[in-house]
Amino acid sequence: MEETGKVFIKTFGCQMNVYDSEKIMAYLDDRYIEAASEDEADLILLNTCSVRGKAEQKVFSMIGRFKPLKDLNPELIIAVGGCVAQQEGQGILDRSPLVDLVFGTHNIEDLPDLLDERIRKGKRVCRIIEESDKVTSAQAPSRAVVSKPARLVTIMKGCDNFCAYCIVPFVRGREISRPSVEIISEVESLVENGALEITLLGQNVNSYRDPESGDDFIDLLEKVDSIHGLSRLRFVTSHPKDFSVELINAMASLETVCEHIHLPLQAASDRVLGGMKRSYTLNEYRSKVAALRDAIPDVELTSDIIVGFPGEKRSDFDKTMSFLTEIRYQNVFSFRFSPRPGTAASRLEDSVPERVKKGWLPELQHLQSEITAWKHEDLLGSTLEVLVEGTGKKENGMLEGRTRNNFIVHFPGSEDMIGSLTNVKVNRSGKIHLESEVVK
Ligand code: SAH
Ligand code: SF4
Ligand code: F3S
Repeated sequence: MEETGKVFIKTFGCQMNVYDSEKIMAYLDDRYIEAASEDEADLILLNTCSVRGKAEQKVFSMIGRFKPLKDLNPELIIAVGGCVAQQEGQGILDRSPLVDLVFGTHNIEDLPDLLDERIRKGKRVCRIIEESDKVTSAQAPSRAVVSKPARLVTIMKGCDNFCAYCIVPFVRGREISRPSVEIISEVESLVENGALEITLLGQNVNSYRDPESGDDFIDLLEKVDSIHGLSRLRFVTSHPKDFSVELINAMASLETVCEHIHLPLQAASDRVLGGMKRSYTLNEYRSKVAALRDAIPDVELTSDIIVGFPGEKRSDFDKTMSFLTEIRYQNVFSFRFSPRPGTAASRLEDSVPERVKKGWLPELQHLQSEITAWKHEDLLGSTLEVLVEGTGKKENGMLEGRTRNNFIVHFPGSEDMIGSLTNVKVNRSGKIHLESEVVK
């Protein structure tokens, strides 16, 4: 056992990275405790995202900001992991002399060794492997974050879809599913430690297939659903092309599966969808949503949209705008197209000028925030069951919870309610969340 230091982890990107950061913490558990801020850290670790150019630039500007800390404490170790590390590898050490250590998305388990190399031998180190058969080691120590009521569990990694714009298959590798016995035992241990809600993670969960038993995603949902003590089950992300009637039926019939689905549309024009290699048409998407709403009347949908894909015209963008009004998503995450190295779309002409993308994006976001606000108004006066997940970020004495169908609700209450299910009555609707009070 070594001397204990303090680690500050900054996580960028998607829930995969959030999960990986928890794993990283677990691997460092006997050597580092969490630092309250970067100023007091002995190890600063950036878990990076490279899905858009902007996300990647953020990493390098952040590293630059650590210079004064490194000047003060030459022993400070700066480590870069995640998707930018996987993509750039040694290039990060070359570009930034402040960085001590780089590790790829398949090398989380190696981190303690790499730290030893840095500390004992004084070498700047980089370890990136291209692929790994392991999703994450089952033997990984259990993740440190105690008694959080809503937890993430990775069921597969990588992606085989190669959507034309997307770097994920390059930085996360091919799709590999994790054996369901491992998944079940991880969920069981989280539930035993107080988790009421589990979100199963994968870039394309619908194509999950147990490498040992051959179970598919629905078999897995059934198994997790039957775990005693679990109240809510979510999963992300579903690719619309693989979102099946069977899955809709399973969502409707399995008690713990929540009435919410994130179903990234990306664009509503078939021409643009074709260019993106998304393998569905707008009508196919539309009829899946209709079937879902038939089966689960109070289901809510969220989505991702890219504006300004190569070749997209105003008339294509207008289709996306009217589809948002038609579908009435609960919320939409929207992004300007950003060409990524190695992807098919990076070889197309980035034909939509940046100023046009910069105009379309707020237009879309404005429309969506109106739709979200209407949905919130519809809930005024109603009583909702929420899982109390934590304290509200800004206001003192406020708790934050989420409904099964993914509405975010704030209400006054004491911290001992965190981790419980409670009923609240909505008394104000906001743009981002609902305000309410606990029903006695
Ligand atoms: N596996 C998920 C998430 C992929 S990344 C899925 O299939 O949806 C999350 C979102 O980032 C994508 O849905 C997409 O909307 C956006 N995105 C990915 N690559 C992008 C790029 N090059 N430019 C802009 N947005 C991008
Ligand atoms: Fe990227 Fe497409 Fe895979 Fe999602 S499904 S991770 S958008 S390639
Ligand atoms: Fe970003 Fe990597 Fe996730 S590129 S979106 S952190 S898989």
